[in-house]
This record gives sequence, structure tokens and C-alpha cells, in this order.
Amino acid sequence: MNKKKTVNAATLLRAMQHGEKSVWLTAYDTASAQIADEAGVDVLLVGDSLGMVCLGFDTTLPVTLEQMIHHTAAVVRGRSNAWVVCDLPFGTYQQSPEQAFETSVRVLQETGCDAVKLEGGKPMVKTIYFLADRGIAVVAHIGLTPQSVKKFGGYGKRGQSKNEQTPLKNDAGAITEAGAVALVLENIPHDLAADITGMVDIPTVGIGAGSGCDAQVLVWHDLLGMSERNPPFAPAYANVRQVMNDAIRQWTNDVRNGRFPEDAP
Ligand code: KIV
Repeated sequence: MNKKKTVNAATLLRAMQHGEKSVWLTAYDTASAQIADEAGVDVLLVGDSLGMVCLGFDTTLPVTLEQMIHHTAAVVRGRSNAWVVCDLPFGTYQQSPEQAFETSVRVLQETGCDAVKLEGGKPMVKTIYFLADRGIAVVAHIGLTPQSVKKFGGYGKRGQSKNEQTPLKNDAGAITEAGAVALVLENIPHDLAADITGMVDIPTVGIGAGSGCDAQVLVWHDLLGMSERNPPFAPAYANVRQVMNDAIRQWTNDVRNGRFPEDAP
């Protein structure tokens, strides 16, 4: 059997250098990790979108470290080749580099994942240096940063004006310099994402940021058509919500009509 190579920070960097696109997808449990890994996804991101797509919260803000650890450990148990990244939840890293280090150590030790992801530009640069200097693989995330939704008042596109574009470019440069291994660019103009991708020498991972990025990421529920509503930049490749609904309805009818279990399909 032709065993696929295990993905790591170095293989992702090499893919970028060879112009090969990497594929990232969120996952929150063992079954989804197994399915995505079998399908050839390179990176499984246990995003704090967990709070919204799995736990019924309106924002990512209520997600706790314990919840992230619980779900990330489940994803790690389901992966065979993919690299697993865990989002640091709101309030568990912004206070100081030391707080971020303590949180990251817990995440890495208690889940077995490979990297941590944190949101923010300039204010996070010192923290990225601190973690990277201590051997931690850090993925940064700028543009639309959902943990700041209360500050921005929504999930709209970032970086539309020149005033916003220069700081985003500066953030990308500083984050790279600080030692991040990849940079998520969420919901920013496509030409800005392409400019940033050309500027930095770590892989950029786009979501709503166009095809100029080195990699793409989508949320599991959006990709598979399981969300009630997708963001405009996240197309569904299937209608799994409908497939599940049909199967459950059919089984419900079969139970009520006495056809189950004898006449099950
Ligand atoms: O939480 C998440 O799923 C994310 C991705 C959308 C990048 O941060």
C-alpha cells in the first residue's frame, strides 16, 4: 500500500515553496477527522467555530479551554496523516506571553495535537515570539477575527480601505518575523491576500480571501451543507443536512409504520 506522508510544519512549508496548494478543514470529533484524513485533507483545524457549529453558541467567545481540549483530543484520535491545529479560545492567551505559553502547553500535552492557533496581529507578535522561541508551532490569524466580533460589531470583510490594508500587511510581516509557521487570512479582499501571500515566506491559509493564498480552509459544516446558513464566501459541496434529514424521516416513518427493523433498507 502507498502510505501517504505525514504532514508537518516543514512539509507545509515545502508545499508552499513548490507552489502546491495545501488543504485545511475544520474537524471537531473522531469520525470527522477520520473521514477528512481519508479524503486527503492536509490539516485538521479544531477551530473555536466549534462553539457555533457544534455547541449552539452565537459567537466563539463562550468556548472554554476544556471544550477545546476535549474535542481536539478526539480529532487527534481520528487522524492518521493530517497535521492537527487547535484554536486557543478567547481569554486563554491574550493576557500575556506567559499565559499563552501555559495554555499552549496544556493543549499540546493533553491532546497530542501539533500546533496552536491564535487570533490577532501586532498585539500578538510578542506572544508569537515567546511561543516560537520555546518550540511551539504557532498559526496566526488576521483579517476577520471572530473573537473580536464585539469590538467590530459583526463578521464583515476587513481590509477594505487603504487605512486598514497597511496595518494588515505590517501585521503579516511582523507575525512571520516572530516565527509563526502559517497565517490564516479571513474575509479580506482577494488582491490584499495575494499581496500578503507574495510578501511573507510562510504559508497563507485563506478563508474568504481568494485563490492567491497558499492554502484554503473551510468549516466542516459549511463545506458539507450542514449549516443552517453559510457565510457568502463558503460554498457547500454537498447537502448533508438534507441527506441526514431524509434518512431520519425515513427511519421515523418505518418505526411508526412497523416496517423497522424487519424491512430496514
Ligand atoms: O474557528 C475556526 O474554525 C477558524 C477558521 C474559520 C479559520 O478559525
